[in-house]
Amino acid sequence: MCGIVGVVGAENATEVLLSGLKKLEYRGYDSAGIYVNSKTGTPELIKRVGRIKNLEAAIPAGLAGTQGIGHTRWATNGVPSVANAHPHISNDGRFYLVHNGVLTNAKQLAADYLADVTLLSDTDTEVAVQLIAKFVRDGASVKEALRHVMQLVEGSYAFALADRDDVDTLYVAKNKSPLLIAKGDGFNAIASDALALLDRTHDFIELHDEELVVLTKDSIHIENLAGAVQERASYTVDVSEGDGDLGAYPFYMLKEIDEQPAVIRRLLSSYVDDQGQVQMPADLLKTLDGADRLYFVAAGTSYHASLAAAPMFEQLAGVPVSVHFASEFGYHMPLLSKKPMFIFLTQSGETADIRQVLVKVKTMHLPTLTITNVPTSTLAREADYALSLHAGPEIAVASTKAYTAQVATSALLAKALGMFKGTAAAKKLDIKHELSIVATAQQTLVDQKDMIHELVGKMLKTTRNAFYIGRGGDYYVALEAALKLKEISYIQAEGFAAGELKHGTIALIEEGTPVIALISDPVTAAHTRANAGETQARGANVLHIATADLAQPDDELVVPSVNGLLTPLALIVPGQLLAYYASLDRGYDVDRPRNLAKSVTVE
Ligand code: M6R
Repeated sequence: MCGIVGVVGAENATEVLLSGLKKLEYRGYDSAGIYVNSKTGTPELIKRVGRIKNLEAAIPAGLAGTQGIGHTRWATNGVPSVANAHPHISNDGRFYLVHNGVLTNAKQLAADYLADVTLLSDTDTEVAVQLIAKFVRDGASVKEALRHVMQLVEGSYAFALADRDDVDTLYVAKNKSPLLIAKGDGFNAIASDALALLDRTHDFIELHDEELVVLTKDSIHIENLAGAVQERASYTVDVSEGDGDLGAYPFYMLKEIDEQPAVIRRLLSSYVDDQGQVQMPADLLKTLDGADRLYFVAAGTSYHASLAAAPMFEQLAGVPVSVHFASEFGYHMPLLSKKPMFIFLTQSGETADIRQVLVKVKTMHLPTLTITNVPTSTLAREADYALSLHAGPEIAVASTKAYTAQVATSALLAKALGMFKGTAAAKKLDIKHELSIVATAQQTLVDQKDMIHELVGKMLKTTRNAFYIGRGGDYYVALEAALKLKEISYIQAEGFAAGELKHGTIALIEEGTPVIALISDPVTAAHTRANAGETQARGANVLHIATADLAQPDDELVVPSVNGLLTPLALIVPGQLLAYYASLDRGYDVDRPRNLAKSVTVE
């Protein structure tokens, strides 16, 4: 979703903004813009619809500047257009603002305060910058004008504000949307994600909600909304810049699919000691042990990973689990158990739907754990406990290795909790050995790319729709495999509980409809095969993906057998590759599918 980069004091602000915005491209956007100024130059505002390369091509040669703000916009209020792209400028030409988030009362504020101002865009952001200019005209300092806007607006924001008449300063404010301060040598900067500036500094400062920052090249002044100065130490982000490099791969998604066996091995070395014991923080295990029900609350792929995680905790630790969509849970909260604990699986750690749940359950004084790929993220910082996924930066919008890391980390935590509780099931499971088998199985599958690509040619190259079917854990994988397919190939794909087809959805099956049957559960394998057969009898083009222990001679794809609880980790790999090649063969930008954002920072 929207990405922000800003810098003050740099020798070449344009370069900092462009390289930073390129690093944030993965978040998803539809237009981009920069504003650059310096003591000696003239202020320049350049905005373009589409990719950053369009913006780059429009930048005058030699534009450097020492102060700048840049933005990639993912449209919320108003279509993607130059007028709606950021930075937005006040009518007097003095203030430039970039914004990530949604101001829900912008229309009302425009009616209340800006009746005499002609708005040139459909955005809530323009309302904010016009308000700042108005309050300054009315006599406020820039900082006070920004604070006044923070007091007036409802919703979420990360703001970066530049004043044409003061090239030595940037003003920054944050509420609910992510924003970090970066401390540089001779400059200071800001970004939505540390990744944008890792080639310049590893020294970052987090911001809390409703904080305002005045930034110069050598000072960082943080205040809360009441004006009290906030002292905050910086922290080091030690992800290397190279971790996000594409190398020889055509797309990040393929690279990230290939990295999955290594991610599992990294998790084993991070969480399992030399004696094969899973090491988790003792106070976390104690808190988990005190819970009578675990509530997994997540979105998208992370929701599917939560579904796969639930049986692990139930079977290994004997604790009941419910899994919920974050976007629903906060507003339609079910009756909670007496001693609930909340677990948030989230790749980015910034998903707004999850954060609103976290904020709510914190006010109820209920324990929370975030399991995330970004240990410095908002959800990691704000939950009582945080565990890292150790997957390395995931750049492709379609999540793959983070899913693997979420499911594998959940398995490790479930095993640790089971051991803490002393369950027989946990004692029996050699998790290190079983996850090592999974890593090998994943390697076998990623090595079969060509064969999986051929299956796409036979089944998915031109179809408009497709079904994944399965039961139990296979159904959860069906949901995730279908999400992958629709996200990047735009095929209308559904994951379906195989037994439910005959209760209505089988009406959609016609000659040639692709149906992909997932078969890894000995208890239901025969039923799923029968359900696939029912679609075949009605003309479906069926692909059977079965684990080796249950495979039949005509099955098109055989997945190495792994421990039953860990099967999703193996079974999902063909689903990821089928989606990848379907997108590739249709000529789409695999890593940056239309309409989607990597980090979904609005509700
Ligand atoms: O960062 P999160 O894991 O919280 O994000 C949740 C979803 O937005 C995310 O999983 C989304 O569904 C992915 N693009 C799926 O590939």
